[in-house]
Amino acid sequence: MQAKLKNFKKNLLYYEAAMKQLKTYLEILNTEISFLDIDNPINHVSTRIKSTESIILKLQRKNLPLTIESLNSLNDIVGARIVCDFLDNVYLVSDKLKNNKNIKIIEVKDYIKNPKNSGYRGIHLIIEIPVSIDGTLKNIRSEIQIRTVCMDSWASNEHKLNYKHVSTSKEVKDELRANAEQVWKVDLSMNKLYQEKQVKNKGIIETIENISKYKWRVQNEIWRKN
Ligand code: GTP
Ligand code: MG
Repeated sequence: MQAKLKNFKKNLLYYEAAMKQLKTYLEILNTEISFLDIDNPINHVSTRIKSTESIILKLQRKNLPLTIESLNSLNDIVGARIVCDFLDNVYLVSDKLKNNKNIKIIEVKDYIKNPKNSGYRGIHLIIEIPVSIDGTLKNIRSEIQIRTVCMDSWASNEHKLNYKHVSTSKEVKDELRANAEQVWKVDLSMNKLYQEKQVKNKGIIETIENISKYKWRVQNEIWRKN
């Protein structure tokens, strides 16, 4: 049993490496998309690796044995959460990740278009990252959750009040679902304001570009005359 656990823990090295790689990819993505907007579309990013205890509990819950194969059947040993300010940013980040050649998309769960029964919204990407240790290459699964700040704050509270609790009353569940709908209305309204601001920003950027083109033409004219 000790040897089995040791081998099991050794395999977790792949997951630690995958998390470090994923963290780096997301830092690069964050810098890349910060050039696209005046305000950075990403509010914050967090990464985590499931503790050995939680992995063992999840395997027990799923009636799976303590084997490397079972480990590989879990999608969320490595997890990342990207929290964006506005709804459009969530889809921008999701599209950028789908185009990232370092990762392979296995599954896309769009809980924004199809919210969960609880009211939960967000986009989940199940991905694979190739990790090489000691000459052995393994594709490690990971779950990336992309949410708005509003969705994230609802999910954080709901996690404490209901998620995976066995005895939540129907009234509490209904109220949490109703809150999710209120939060969704705020997200839609904020996104509308954001889109209006983007149109104005585009106008300002075009004006600045036109002014500099004009200045350039005047400067050329002065040089030509002299
Ligand atoms: P898990 O066994 O919990 O990992 O769920 P799953 O494998 O069926 O995947 P799913 O896509 O349903 O959810 C994965 C993760 O999304 C969860 O671990 C939570 O972090 C988050 N999540 C999903 N549904 C809810 C929800 O109703 N409330 C909250 N707060 N979080 C949720
Ligand atoms: Mg999970």
